[in-house]
Amino acid sequence: MSINTSNNPVKIAGTGSYLPEKELTNKEMEAIVDTTDEWITSRTGIKSRRIAAEGQNTSDLATEAAKNALEQAGIDGADLDVIIVATITPDTLTPATACYVQHNLGAKKAVAFDVSAACSGFLFAMEVAQRMISDGNYENALIIGAEKLSAFTNWDDRNTCVLFGDGAGAAVLTRGDETTGRILATQVGSDGSQTSILNIPGGGSACPKPSRDGEGEQPYLAMQGREVFKLAVNAMKRASEAVIEEAGLDAENIKLIIPHQANLRIIDAIADRLTIPNEKVFVNLHKYGNTSAAAMAIALDEANREGKIERGDNIVMVGFGAGLTYAAAAIQW
Ligand code: COA
Repeated sequence: MSINTSNNPVKIAGTGSYLPEKELTNKEMEAIVDTTDEWITSRTGIKSRRIAAEGQNTSDLATEAAKNALEQAGIDGADLDVIIVATITPDTLTPATACYVQHNLGAKKAVAFDVSAACSGFLFAMEVAQRMISDGNYENALIIGAEKLSAFTNWDDRNTCVLFGDGAGAAVLTRGDETTGRILATQVGSDGSQTSILNIPGGGSACPKPSRDGEGEQPYLAMQGREVFKLAVNAMKRASEAVIEEAGLDAENIKLIIPHQANLRIIDAIADRLTIPNEKVFVNLHKYGNTSAAAMAIALDEANREGKIERGDNIVMVGFGAGLTYAAAAIQW
């Protein structure tokens, strides 16, 4: 675990997101597995999710989100020094999805690489990028959370397939100053003793040729939901309290909490433990389900574009994912 506050201010200059057109509602899920809209809604808060088109890869979703963020930041791909894609569903095991995005954006001078930290990945990318900028060697960084989870979902397993969706979100980070908004505090952490409760067991070097139908390790998301639930609430509470304290904030002067969008009951439990009223908590999971690394990035962009945060407002982002990983950031907008 580490708490890091940049010496030189780093600000978010623009955000963007992209969701595939195809919607898959809970009602439509009822025709795929033995489930009901009522079960999914009451257990998770999810009503619908987006599914990438055939041939539309994670890098394609990432590129569209990136274009929106670059446009808002007022810079071109050619101005980028760093591109970091957070994903657990890369186009290919190698090269990094960020390299495809670099090419798509014509970002020739940017160093491009991926981070794998599951649902916390966007904040891990933020941590790395802000350190690179803060150290003074890089000026403009593009961080993206992008996932095509539908490609790693077992559509016969009602325990998991109702939970996930596809999408991408992005942010441009650049040098800030004391007056233009800045990242105030970040925390990232990992607990490798819990690798077995949330994972994609097949498809890596431990099982490079998994069968999609047969026995053995499968290339699908697998999860012990109840265990994950308990650990998520505790880790997110600790991580957000750490950055709130580090940034010198309190419940009164936080404008918005943007939590990872996995389950409304987890979000409510976090808000309750932080004594933050529900109206200060951003929720969009009813529309998109859990999009892992993309979720907080999409939520940040929507909160920004919907005018829920304005220059000078303090926000807290907090997430949790496979690894286990957890992360939080306090940001002055
Ligand atoms: N539709 C209908 N019934 C379902 C179902 C579905 N889609 N999925 C599971 N069930 C059933 C189970 O089979 C079980 O039936 P049984 O009692 O006859 O065995 C019952 O519902 C309860 O299952 P359980 O897993 O105990 O439910 P839960 O209350 O723990 O809710 C989750 C399941 C997954 C929604 C919940 O555990 C959760 O949200 N966990 C955290 C997941 C998460 O956030 N993961 C991402 C972290 S980044």
